[in-house]
Parts: sequence; C-alpha cells; structure tokens
Amino acid sequence: MNAVEIEQAVSVLAEEPFDPDQFPYTFLEAFGNKKTTIKRLRAGTTNRSDVGGVLQRSNIHIKVAPEGEVAAALTDLKESPETARAKAKLVLATDGHEFRAEDMESGDIVVCDFPEFPEHFGFFLSLAGITTVKQIRESAFDIRATGRLNRLYVELLKENPDLGGTDRQRDMNHFMARLIFCFFAEDTDIFPHQSPFTSTVEQMSTPEGSNTHEVIDEIFRAMNTEFEDRETASLPRWADAFPYVNGGLFSDSTEVPRFSRTARSYLLHLGNLDWKKINPDIFGSMIQAVADDKERGSLGMHYTSVPNILKVLNPLFLDDLREQLKEAGGNNRKLLNLRHRMARIRVFDPACGSGNFLVVAYKEIRAIEAEINRRRRERGRHSDIPLTNFRGIEIRDFPAEVARLSLVIAEYQCDVLYLGQKKAVTVVLPLNKENWITCANALRLDWSSICPPTGTEVKHVADDLFESAPDQSAIDFRNEGGETYICGNPPYRGSQWQTAEQKADLKSVFDGRTRNWKQLDYVAGWFIKAADYGAQTPAASGFVTTNSICQGRQVATLWPLILKTGQKIAFAHTSFKWANLASQKAGVTVAIVGISNRPSYVRQLFSIRTDGETAVRGA
Ligand SMILES: C[S@@+](CC[C@H](N)C(=O)[O-])C[C@H]1O[C@@H](n2cnc3c(N)ncnc32)[C@H](O)[C@@H]1O
Repeated sequence: MNAVEIEQAVSVLAEEPFDPDQFPYTFLEAFGNKKTTIKRLRAGTTNRSDVGGVLQRSNIHIKVAPEGEVAAALTDLKESPETARAKAKLVLATDGHEFRAEDMESGDIVVCDFPEFPEHFGFFLSLAGITTVKQIRESAFDIRATGRLNRLYVELLKENPDLGGTDRQRDMNHFMARLIFCFFAEDTDIFPHQSPFTSTVEQMSTPEGSNTHEVIDEIFRAMNTEFEDRETASLPRWADAFPYVNGGLFSDSTEVPRFSRTARSYLLHLGNLDWKKINPDIFGSMIQAVADDKERGSLGMHYTSVPNILKVLNPLFLDDLREQLKEAGGNNRKLLNLRHRMARIRVFDPACGSGNFLVVAYKEIRAIEAEINRRRRERGRHSDIPLTNFRGIEIRDFPAEVARLSLVIAEYQCDVLYLGQKKAVTVVLPLNKENWITCANALRLDWSSICPPTGTEVKHVADDLFESAPDQSAIDFRNEGGETYICGNPPYRGSQWQTAEQKADLKSVFDGRTRNWKQLDYVAGWFIKAADYGAQTPAASGFVTTNSICQGRQVATLWPLILKTGQKIAFAHTSFKWANLASQKAGVTVAIVGISNRPSYVRQLFSIRTDGETAVRGA
C-alpha cells in the first residue's frame, strides 16, 4: 500500500463506529498488513501480547482499554516485557474515545480524541515500512490533503477523460490550484465569513453532483470580477459575496470539470480539512505529484527536505545575515542597514519545482526582519521584503503554478505571524498580477532576462500564469541594486540516461567550451549557467548536486570551465545520502557546492560526522 491508500484507509477507520474487538486488526490492515498476517494474529499463533492486546513483532503493541482507562493501558503496554522482547516500535491504547500512542525509541507521543487520530497518520507510517523524516511525520495535514487531492484528481479524470490529455491537463492543473487557494482562503479569513467556499458549493449543488461545475464556475467568475464591474456581471447573490482575487489565478475561463457524486463528496471532504495548517514548503512539493501519473502514489516525497535546503541557504547567505543581526545588537542604525540590505536581496532558483527553496528562503528572511523590527520597537510594521524578489524557472507547468501559490501562502502566513491576522487580511487581495515564476527550460534561457542584474522595466504583466512567455518574468525587482543568490536542486541525469532534448540542452550550453560535454551530468548545465551569470554581476550560487560532478572524469571537464569565469568554490558539503523515505536511502548520494565571484575569506567545507552532527572546516 502506498501512503495515499493508507491515509484513505485510516480516515475510513476513524469515521466508522468503533468496534473494540476488531480495532487492532482493522488498524493493522489499514497500514497494509496482508489478510494472512492478520489471520495468524487473530488465531493467536503470532500474537505475543501479555496484556490482553495484539502484539505484532518488531512493529506495534495495541490494547483496547475499558472506557476511561487509556492512560493506564498505555503504561501497561510500555512496561510489558513482551513489548521489549518483541522489539515493538510503537504502543497504542484506545477506548474508542481517547487515543494514545508512543514511539518506544524516541518517546514521541500522540494523545488525541479517537476521531482525530488520522491527523497523526505520519506517526504510524513506519508500520507500513515507510520511514519518513521527522518533518513529514509531523506534516499530517500536508499528507492528508495531498492524499485527498489525489483522489479528487483521479475521480475528476474519470468523469472528464478529455482533461487527461496533455493539452487539457493544464486546465485541470489550473483548476486544482484554484481549489487549493479557495480552501486556504476560507480557513484563513482571506474570504470574508459570509462567503465560505465549501459550504456554498455544498448548499448550491445537488448531492449527485451534476451542477457542481456550474456552481464553482460562478464563484470563480466572481473572483475574477472587480468590484466596480459587479453590477454588470449579473452574478448570483451567493457568488457575489466572494471577493475579487485574480492575480492570474482566476483570470481566463478555464472550464470547471464535471463532478460525479463521489467527486463532489471528495471536494467537500477536502474543504473540511483545516487548511490553516498547510506548510507551503512541504505541501507544494507533495501536491505537484497529484498531476503526475507516475508520482501520484508516493505523495511526491522525493523533494528536498527543509534541513537539506538549509544546508544550501545557510552558507550561501543566511548565516551572514544572522551574523550581521547578531553584530547589530540593539544598534538602530545597523539594524536599519540590515533591513535595507535584505529588502534588496534576490533569491533565484532556476529549477524551482514547486518553490520550496524560495519559500524557505523567504520565510527565513522574514524571520530576521521580524527580529529587527522587534529590536527597533517597530512590531507590526509592514514587510519590506518583496515576494517578487524570489524568482524561479521551472519546466513543468503545474509545479510552476504551485510555486507561485506556495509563495503567496507563505507571505500571508508570515504576515499573520508578524503583523497579525487583521493587517494580513487587508493586504492580501487582490493577488499580485506579476508572474515571477517562469515556466520554461532553464538551460535555454538567458538567466539575466529572468533575474536581471539591475532593475528592468516591466515588459509583460501576466494575465494568466500559463501564458508564460520567457520574458514574462522580466518585471521590476523592487529595491534595485542588491545581491543575487542562486540556489536549488537542479535535475541530475548521467550522460547515458539523458534524453535527446537534454543532450541538446547541454550542447547549447557547453558547445565551443569543451568537446567533452557529452560525458557531463545534466546538472552541470546549471553550474555553468550560474558561473556565467556570476561573471556579469555580483552573485553567489549553491546547488544540491549529484556527487558525480565532484569526482572522477567529469571534474577535469567541468571545473576548469567554471573557474575560468572567475568563480571560486565558496563552500561545499561532502557527499551524503539524501532521502525523505528510508526505502530510497540506497539510491541517491548528493553533495552541495557553492560558487561565488566574491567568496568570503574563509571557505567552508561541511561534512556529516559519524554521530550525525555536521562538522565544518574553514580554509
Ligand atoms: C530535483 S527537482 C527539485 C525541485 C524542488 N526544488 C525540490 O526540491 O523538490 C528538479 C526540478 O527541475 C525541473 N527541471 C528539470 N529540467 C528542467 C529544465 N531544463 N529547466 C527548468 N526546470 C527543469 C524539474 O521539473 C524539477 O521540478
């Protein structure tokens, strides 16, 4: 079973009437145990419980307790000699009202009402052999929302097979992005209370779903109609209550797919999640898998985790900002200078996927700015950090769309955190029309047109994110003249695995520089483009990369070309295994390399020690 199927099974189990005799078995079944395994446990042949529960070796010890005695039952489970002998990783006790579980190794606990236990779904994923990093485990919301979006997507494709083709898939993706925004907006007060999206759809559409698309279409039309045009738009009253959102998200007339009864119920189910809990850095990466047939079941867990993103961003520029903050102490002038500096920083990810590097960078900078404002006694001051200074290129349309949405959500969440809900709501709508994430092939673009070294005039304002001509992002950087930091986790592909198109991309970048470009990994294209960019303007770049470009025959081909542009290695991280899922651990070994035309005096080499801590050496 994959994570999506497990999430569904767990949700169903929590909604069904509690059956004390069956619970331990249905719980284990929900996590993918085979019928034969369950049968043996039931028969007692493999059940070693010494406290009247169900004990599955190397996995979990479960006990259904009499009402009100859940805490005592959990203590019994923890102290049971059989729990230790059978090396159970988890213990779980419930009476159908209260739910308690504990991880025997880490001591992490879950205590909640029984119907809420699927919220902690990530905590139990190890039962299905899916070992996740802590951050995913704690992101139950993101996993559940993605699982449900997956189900809705598949159901809608069944009902609207024409939307599955490559041409129309964009419409479907665009529709999903709109939905996500609506769910988020209704749970975060971006939509006024009188216009909750989910309940309007529920009330105005028939239970069998046949007119759901018409209802949603009217709501979307309202979100694309400015207030002064409302009278002539003849919107139904229930749609007229929705604000003008646009910002590219609701412009043009993307057809709303037709809904079946099941699709409608999935949509209502999604709307009932608490979207306030969304983590735009994780969620974006997960939901990009929704639009990808091969990825769907895996919840897109191949993305770069936040700790790994910080391995790039910290030495690239965040450590320096934090150092400057420390040095400034309570000195108002120094604090102000730092704030000015940050307002002019551009962060550029030329293979941005759904924007996780950009979101993390944005959030970290906002945190530093908030600390400056606190020290300067300017709490609640509007931010000087322009979202449009966080730029990206992404070749696939859905992640590109999600990247912008994730940044918009991150900005709103930061505003709520640092300015308060009231102020945040007043500034969020309408969404910014500018499109600063470009959907294109990064190796075929002049990066200085996407991320101009100095400000440029607005060349093109997007009506719609999908109308993504490469020059679309040639919009002004706010606050001219700052530093540029290029970052990301560009695609790696060894020479024998590259498509003809990718080979042609590399040729276009390396032709005339070396005849050996055919042996290079695809990621080398990003390094040389970053080096070229850095030759024109002050910039530093840091990428997660396959370590094949740092060892063996590629070194002699690639690195002299990079050094020739005037770049130097500013920092690096030695090879480390990279995976969000333990099952993939064997696969990928990566390194991080940072280059700059102005490296600081001390170059840093990071590595992971045997105890798991990071060591740093300066040179
Ligand atoms: C390893 S992923 C990293 C994405 C994201 N930062 C993350 O950590 O999940 C690489 C991204 O580069 C995109 N990509 C692949 N080839 C590209 C190209 N030629 N130009 C721009 N983006 C490309 C892929 O679609 C993918 O989203």
